[in-house]
Amino acid sequence: MAASGDRLAAMADASGHRRHPTIQEQDDMTANTQRKYRADYQPPAYLIDDVALDFDIRDTGTRVRGQYQVRRNPDAAGAAALQLDGRDMQLHSVAIDGRALGADEYELGEHALVIAAPPSQFSLTIENEIDPEHNLALEGLYRSGDILCTQCEATGFSRITYFPDRPDVMSRYTTRIEADADQYPVLLANGNCVESGDAGAGRHYAVFEDPFAKPCYLFALVAGDLGMIRDSYTTASGREVDLRLYTEHGNEDQCDHAMASLKQAMAWDEDTYGLEYDLDSYVTVAVGSFNMGAMENKGLNVFNTACIFARADTATDGDFALVRDVVAHEYFHNYTGNRVTCRDWFQLSLKEGLTVYREHQFAIDQGSPGVTRIGQVRTIREVQFPEDGGPRAHPVRPESYVEMNNFYTITVYEKGAEVIRMIAQMAGRDAFLRAVRHYLDKHDGQAVTIEDFVVAMEESTGLDLDQFRRWYAQAGTPRLTLTTEFDQNQLRVRLTQSTPATPDQSEKQPFDIPVALAMFDAQGLPVGEPQVLRLNQAEQQWQFDGFDAQPTISALRGFTAPVKLDYPQSDAELARLMAFDSDPVSRWDAAQALYLNTLVADARARGADQPPAAAPQALFDAIESLLATPPDDRALLAEMLTLPSETRIGEQFDATDVFAVNGARRALKQEIARRFTGLFETLRDAHAASGPYVFDVAESGRRRVFALALDYLAAIDAPGIRDHALAVYNDADNMTDRMAALGALRDLTGDARTRAMTDFAERWADYPLVMDKWLRLQASTRRDDAIAQVRALLEDARFDFTNPNRVRALLGGFARGNGEAFHHADGQGYQLLADEILRLDRLNPQLAAALAGLLAPWRRYASPQGTAMREQLTRLAASDLSANTGEIVAAGLA
Ligand code: TRP
Ligand code: ZN
Repeated sequence: MAASGDRLAAMADASGHRRHPTIQEQDDMTANTQRKYRADYQPPAYLIDDVALDFDIRDTGTRVRGQYQVRRNPDAAGAAALQLDGRDMQLHSVAIDGRALGADEYELGEHALVIAAPPSQFSLTIENEIDPEHNLALEGLYRSGDILCTQCEATGFSRITYFPDRPDVMSRYTTRIEADADQYPVLLANGNCVESGDAGAGRHYAVFEDPFAKPCYLFALVAGDLGMIRDSYTTASGREVDLRLYTEHGNEDQCDHAMASLKQAMAWDEDTYGLEYDLDSYVTVAVGSFNMGAMENKGLNVFNTACIFARADTATDGDFALVRDVVAHEYFHNYTGNRVTCRDWFQLSLKEGLTVYREHQFAIDQGSPGVTRIGQVRTIREVQFPEDGGPRAHPVRPESYVEMNNFYTITVYEKGAEVIRMIAQMAGRDAFLRAVRHYLDKHDGQAVTIEDFVVAMEESTGLDLDQFRRWYAQAGTPRLTLTTEFDQNQLRVRLTQSTPATPDQSEKQPFDIPVALAMFDAQGLPVGEPQVLRLNQAEQQWQFDGFDAQPTISALRGFTAPVKLDYPQSDAELARLMAFDSDPVSRWDAAQALYLNTLVADARARGADQPPAAAPQALFDAIESLLATPPDDRALLAEMLTLPSETRIGEQFDATDVFAVNGARRALKQEIARRFTGLFETLRDAHAASGPYVFDVAESGRRRVFALALDYLAAIDAPGIRDHALAVYNDADNMTDRMAALGALRDLTGDARTRAMTDFAERWADYPLVMDKWLRLQASTRRDDAIAQVRALLEDARFDFTNPNRVRALLGGFARGNGEAFHHADGQGYQLLADEILRLDRLNPQLAAALAGLLAPWRRYASPQGTAMREQLTRLAASDLSANTGEIVAAGLA
């Protein structure tokens, strides 16, 4: 369960949603479909040094009064009009230096308010009204259960007031909030609370000052009746930081792990980068309705409850890791993102790629580095490579977009992190850490570009990154081939690279690619030192001398670059690497390659209606010796025994035959389970729980092996497995083991399954995040009437169309987790998804667009699936779509 990949792809969640606004469709479907280009960047015509915001929260709507100190930007040439972005709100008044403007003194459009020729320095006052109660887009100010909260990244601030909604306008904010004291006892905004008190008529107020200038996307406000847990952290230089974590009442006992994780992250950033927190308080608020995982607003993070809540009985080991890593990620943004921010949104990876890289290193330092890295590699291969090979392929630094929210992608985040990792690897650890410090010192308080970052890296490390910059500019996954020649004690290694064309780029230049290499003799002993070859031409050759016999090569060790390597190795060589390789990532990768060889051959045979291809004896021998001498790290054993996912297998084909792939994977799994039934039973019993739940490397590794053994045994419905799984379900003191049992029972019909599922639904009825797990299980169950089942759940009271976590659990759980039904040849799975995208697009375009991304890569699927997917895309394209969904659908059909 890779924690970080989940953040973008499939956030699970919940919260007590007692009160929901009546669903009101957005009346503004006049989407801004204008395409923006990176090359068109112009500095802002005006800067705003100080912002004073005043929020008057009422049941009928929220009045916003903004007062801005505006001045002409000395660095801006050209037109002197002031553009204030704003949408979906009611303007009351505009005043310059206290004088109200007449309606003829400004131009008010659907998306902006423009003042043609204001003075060169002035005070601007704007009054407007917004309607958080009916804001289901979850951008700007909106309601989540009992909480009013904001989400401003990327351009949500323009749903709050008229303002230059761009990150290169940085201001110091003072925020006053006034609201009913009973309904909203807690009032929060960025920075320090400098004043609070009674406002009469049962109302109260609070004033906050944030001493750091920031872009408006980092603005945040929260009001609600909230429970809280509190702790403190003393920084290395002695600053006492007040740590508070708020949620709706009754959830406080699910927040301790998040708080502990925050303190771990604060200590790690001090130890590793020498970076200390810079305010006196760090406040986190967990809300049930949130479009993404979390948001790094300065001093006031807002989180999806799915990335905060973790209690042994309600959350799995995967959830614990997700919470830890997302909490750390948002904390790390305080420097990489907030203190130094992005000049424009094309630079998003400047903060996200770097922060994901920092999060990855943090996670690796929490234990089990090999397995943690394996999870990161899996995310790249299974999620990023498909994006890079599909209609939405784009460079880490995109050239254009229609809707920025569509570019919070796995490419910008995770490939961006891999690009940073390559720089770190070329520089060496200490030089890299120094270079990041140099970058942060040089640009503190500025809004900068990826180019600025690369220049800072070069200045500090002395590396020449000229050609390396192509990693930011060119989309697509490079394909490498490796061939060897051995004679006269000499080994010649030849590497080639080429990158397939992507939608906007037909010609690709060679990348600068670090390829780590090690060699082993027949006994598994290393031959010579590991090397890092630097492949920077289309084709290169290296020679190594002094061998007694041809060595076994372990290539791209640790996944030194986000590339596909084609290096056909014999089953015997792979088995040897699986057993001997000193790098756990490479041991795992050898196992994956061995499985893939079989799976691809079998899927190909099945696709061509030929008899299934049998697995070689070498594969079973390798598994047998792995089980005989398992690695100490139990999670590594589990990873090595896990077959490549359907997506990974599908990636090996130009157009996937889903049923051939699924069939091949199921057959191999069953064959392994049949041959090793006894060993899996032994493994299961040796790894069963023996004490109370603890979340640590050893225990979660043990639980992974236990779950894996159950899963293999369930794949063949082994005698007694149903009762055994039910007993595990009943006896478990933790959600990890419960989910292992339910996962095993999921596709087995019969009494045990019914009893466990029914108990689960009753026991966790009041825990929406846990019920998301149930929704996912239901939606992913293999059954003939799976589509009818999903349609029924869409109407179920436990489902809630306005909550993104519910939608992701049910529709994501179906489309991603139930290949057989989603890709059924009759196209009904696609039709169901398209129906719901259309319905959702009127409420929450950001989420609808994310779901549309599941239909866009239709070319990657063989017919009839591919054509049936395209049909639904065409149907969507003929409807009145938001800019978000429209952009995805158009890319899919282009
Ligand atoms: N900056 C956030 C992060 O990665 C991402 C994010 C949270 C976001 N909420 C969003 C992006 C809403 C777009 C829209 O940490
Ligand atoms: Zn981030």
